[in-house]
Amino acid sequence: MPASPLATARLLLVISGGVAAYKALDLIRRLRERGASVRVVMTPAAKEFVSPMTAAALSGAAAREDLFSLTDEAEMGHIELSRSADLIVVAPATAHLLARMAQGLADDLASTLLLATDKRVLVAPSMNVRMWLHPATQRNLTTLRADGVAFVGPNEGEMACGEFGPGRMAEPLEIVAAVEELLKTPTALPLAAAPKPAGPLTGRRVVVTAGPTYEPIDPVRFIGNRSSGLQGYAIAAAARAAGAEVVLVSGPVALADPKGVSLVRVETAREMLAAVEAALPADVFVSAAAVADWRVAHAGEQKLKKGVDGAPSLTLIENPDILATIGKSERNRPKVVVGFAAETENVLENARAKLARKGCDFIVANDVSPHKGVFGGAHNEVNIVSAESSEGWPRMAKEGVAEKLVERIARNLE
Ligand code: C5P
Repeated sequence: MPASPLATARLLLVISGGVAAYKALDLIRRLRERGASVRVVMTPAAKEFVSPMTAAALSGAAAREDLFSLTDEAEMGHIELSRSADLIVVAPATAHLLARMAQGLADDLASTLLLATDKRVLVAPSMNVRMWLHPATQRNLTTLRADGVAFVGPNEGEMACGEFGPGRMAEPLEIVAAVEELLKTPTALPLAAAPKPAGPLTGRRVVVTAGPTYEPIDPVRFIGNRSSGLQGYAIAAAARAAGAEVVLVSGPVALADPKGVSLVRVETAREMLAAVEAALPADVFVSAAAVADWRVAHAGEQKLKKGVDGAPSLTLIENPDILATIGKSERNRPKVVVGFAAETENVLENARAKLARKGCDFIVANDVSPHKGVFGGAHNEVNIVSAESSEGWPRMAKEGVAEKLVERIARNLE
């Protein structure tokens, strides 16, 4: 078995002030038992949750916190701290620290070294579910992802505040695995983003949704739609190739991140809507996701047990319609809004009805009857339905559909 890159890694761990700070102590232990050296920097708020003494004892070196300490700066200044690390891990990362990172603020040792570094940064967010879903946090995440910051978690579950949802910090071993993965890839942060290709969408901002949403029944079961995400990912890539700045909001899929695109990963329809709203204003919105129409009214906090009473009955409630919300928005509607209609019968009639109902400029309608092999397949055969016309395109690769769609969108923007 090849040796783990952790065996020789020099890591800088930034602990910010969240309830999950106690888990950072376990993280130090896990990293060190795999051979990594760990230097710890704490924000002032982190000290309210864990003691610098414990962090120092576990890491084997003094935990740094003060930007203006003459002794510390003489021993190893903030620039040197980040220079001497292979990777910086921020765990837990509070909403406040993420906001400071996204803004490029440098008002304590932690934020200063995060701004001064050219090393890769891995962030393990930890916060209340509402703070996580807040458009401001989602905007900051989009910015940080575009800056090349890597993320692990957060996980969904019960929170210290008694609420349920995404926001729990990833477990120490999940963070260890993410560190290991990052250490295998090149270490420099892409400080200068790759030049954007120029094309018909240069200067335009495009938001695309893709993949399914998962609506929890309990922590292990969910309701979801069939969707590989291939078509939405191909549209995001084609829009980028045409020069656009692209935000791809994706449900759970097994696809590689498209290059040059800001990827926001979500699970549920409500998270997807929050992420799309956070990505606005935009010139174009393409809603290719297979959003679950319903969610369970009261998802179990624990795994539902098989019992003598037979199968549980689930009460379903309607999810927000993301496309209709954006298509009919008076405040923030992008100039071109495109929806999809996956039907197994009366494809064109259903698409026309959907146009008006969801406030779209056009609908990409396809027949997803099982014999057509659209789900997970590489090809698609679609009709582009607008208020004035309907245009059938021949069966082609999903990348081809994406390119033609982007050309059509660019014409509509003129
Ligand atoms: O109503 P139907 O699910 O067939 O509509 C499909 C279109 O609406 C797709 O573009 C899909 O992305 C979008 N949609 C949505 N939010 C929902 C349901 C569908 O954005 N809750």
